[in-house]
Amino acid sequence: MSILRITGGKRLSGEIHIHGAKNSVLPIMAASLLSSGETIIHNCPSLSDVDAAMKILRHLGCVAEKKDDTVYINSSTMTNCQIPDGLMREMRSSVIFLGAILARAGRAVLSMPGGCELGPRPIDLHIAAMRSMGAEIEEHGGNLICSASGLRGCRIDLTLPSVGATENSMIAAAGCQGTTVITNAAREPEIRDLQDYLRELGVPVSGAGTSIITVEGIDLSKSVKRVEHRIIPDRIVAATFLSAAAASMGKVDILGIIPEDISSILNVFTDMGCSLNVGKDWVTIDAQGGFRAPKPVVTRPYPGFPTDAQPPLMAACLKADGTTVLVETIFENRYRHVPELRRMGADIRIDGRVAMVSGVNKLHGALVAATDLRGGAALAVAALAADGTTEISELKHIDRGYDGLVESLRALNADAERID
Ligand code: EPZ
Repeated sequence: MSILRITGGKRLSGEIHIHGAKNSVLPIMAASLLSSGETIIHNCPSLSDVDAAMKILRHLGCVAEKKDDTVYINSSTMTNCQIPDGLMREMRSSVIFLGAILARAGRAVLSMPGGCELGPRPIDLHIAAMRSMGAEIEEHGGNLICSASGLRGCRIDLTLPSVGATENSMIAAAGCQGTTVITNAAREPEIRDLQDYLRELGVPVSGAGTSIITVEGIDLSKSVKRVEHRIIPDRIVAATFLSAAAASMGKVDILGIIPEDISSILNVFTDMGCSLNVGKDWVTIDAQGGFRAPKPVVTRPYPGFPTDAQPPLMAACLKADGTTVLVETIFENRYRHVPELRRMGADIRIDGRVAMVSGVNKLHGALVAATDLRGGAALAVAALAADGTTEISELKHIDRGYDGLVESLRALNADAERID
């Protein structure tokens, strides 16, 4: 069992370069199936979810290799259209392969995806979108058997702006005959990155970043044969380091980011009284003078405050002057890390979707376990602010989304080590 051991009390200082976005690279790896050639993805983080996506691609008969931060995919050799249950359960994003496999092969056999336990995570919107494009989908004992003799462009009105359903629809629409219009689409920066990749492949797509996305289907056999794409920076990793810098009352330069993509997050840290200096692709946060509780923070689809940044922010707010009110509107069960934070002396009351986080004078080290990806990151943030040593177990969750977390923390002066 691996453990992350952090002895708190050191102010973070120095600079950190933010790695590529997990939630961008995973749909783009799925979309690479649309190509009958080579996709080269740069700025790809080393994460267990990326490994899982590579395993799926290889299982489908594609070539998928990673060297440093570049992934090489050749999907011309695709032979299979079935993803076994074991691989589907490794991560939630496995469902994004549905649209890609259907568009490429006209048939897909998948089971229900896994991923963080954040409450019910249905895939009804994904299935409805594929059906409106003409796919026939049967559900048998947790398996989805999907076939389409030819997908047709259509109008897809999403009842909520699901990130995954928007991505699945865009990818499947690329292989449809005719035009697809997706309304109430998610507006996250990762959707824009997927649009950029699809355009590089030769698919006319527009509207990413707005609520209406239009995709003109193409003959996939005529897609561009070699595409190189660079993944955008991970805004949630940036939010985690902003939280870590604040919790430790440090001063950190966060480099290689797109500041506009994290403006809702930067606004909260400004509201907390942290000093922020924002450049073209960097931000410096200075929390050496302490900080106060922000106004209530409500998680919302982009451009609102992201649900994924809520747990690390909560950990930082444990050191704020005053009480922070957090309202989680995206997932029902995104406070699973709270009992673990309480072991460290946190004063947090939960009432349904509302968390009341009181600033405390002292947090203390404890033995805690990551409950999910961002909840695990929250424990690391709290550990930096705690007296004594914290040992975090269940690192498999953190490994899904943070590349080189320990090395980054150490480079920022933290007392952190990983014991495998
Ligand atoms: C993406 O998940 C992210 N994952 C999540 O990142 C993120 O928390 C989430 O978007 C919200 O921003 C990836 O991009 C790989 P959704 P996704 O579909 O696509 C409901 C992280 O920590 N819904 O936008 O699964 C759903 O239950 C994570 O990196 C339906 O009801 O999220 C939720 O309440 C975990 N039916 C809401 O929509 C559906 O068919 C938003 O989910 C689909 C979703």
